[in-house]
Amino acid sequence: MRRPYFFGVYHWRERLARIGLSALLLVVAAVTFRRGSRLRRLAAVAVGGGALYRGGDAARRLLSPPPWALDRPKYDALASILPLGDADRLLDVGCGSGRSLVGLAPHVSAAAHVVGLDVFDDRIILGNGPKLARQNGARAGIDVSPVAGDATRLPFDDGAFDVVTACRVTHDIPVDGRDAAFAELRRVCADDGTVGLLELPITPDGVDDHEAYWRGCLEDADLSVERVATIDRPARDGAYVAIAATPA
Ligand SMILES: C[S@@+](CC[C@H](N)C(=O)[O-])C[C@H]1O[C@@H](n2cnc3c(N)ncnc32)[C@H](O)[C@@H]1O
Repeated sequence: MRRPYFFGVYHWRERLARIGLSALLLVVAAVTFRRGSRLRRLAAVAVGGGALYRGGDAARRLLSPPPWALDRPKYDALASILPLGDADRLLDVGCGSGRSLVGLAPHVSAAAHVVGLDVFDDRIILGNGPKLARQNGARAGIDVSPVAGDATRLPFDDGAFDVVTACRVTHDIPVDGRDAAFAELRRVCADDGTVGLLELPITPDGVDDHEAYWRGCLEDADLSVERVATIDRPARDGAYVAIAATPA
């Protein structure tokens, strides 16, 4: 049987801190309840209930998304609008622990040279690093070459890749660095290549139409939008948008 993927634990420090604080409050509430007057007991029940609720919520979110789950449809949708089967050189910017590369893997040519670039910062995603990117890629049947780097200063030559993807990463880049990141996606994409973007409905304050926003980011980088797909997010607000764009 194939070993399960492990994509790391998202927002682990913030969520573990909330669980720890809730546990501490629960202990304080329990001690106060045992020793206190009626009024203090009432306060202890209120504090303990709140701590239980907040701690439980943080524990539930700690495994969301589950570190082993891929959620394939959004990557299939992106792959369906990209010429992945014909690409000899593929770059996935912001590959992290490899979830997007695993999602795209069934559509990638066996002979393709696949590079995954990320800042590999494990303070947000526990385990985020080149080792997991390579390991998860291998489990999906692709040989990933991980490269540590920043999306706003890609360490590659102009036109070095036939397909350049950026899945769920550009919303993480501070707004004042986004133009640079999109310009870099364009720069490292071959003149006859394609850039593929997969994004969440997360946009700057005051921007409602996220599809128009992400299209605009690509167009401002001299990329021409060719195809768009939207993918519903079960039990969440807003859809993913997948966009394929070519050098204008
Ligand atoms: C939500 S994860 C997405 C990972 C993967 N692409 C996927 O679809 O699951 C966002 C990734 O973007 C990376 N990232 C954030 N800012 C970056 C930057 N400026 N340059 C490169 N990677 C960055 C993070 O380290 C993280 O691995």
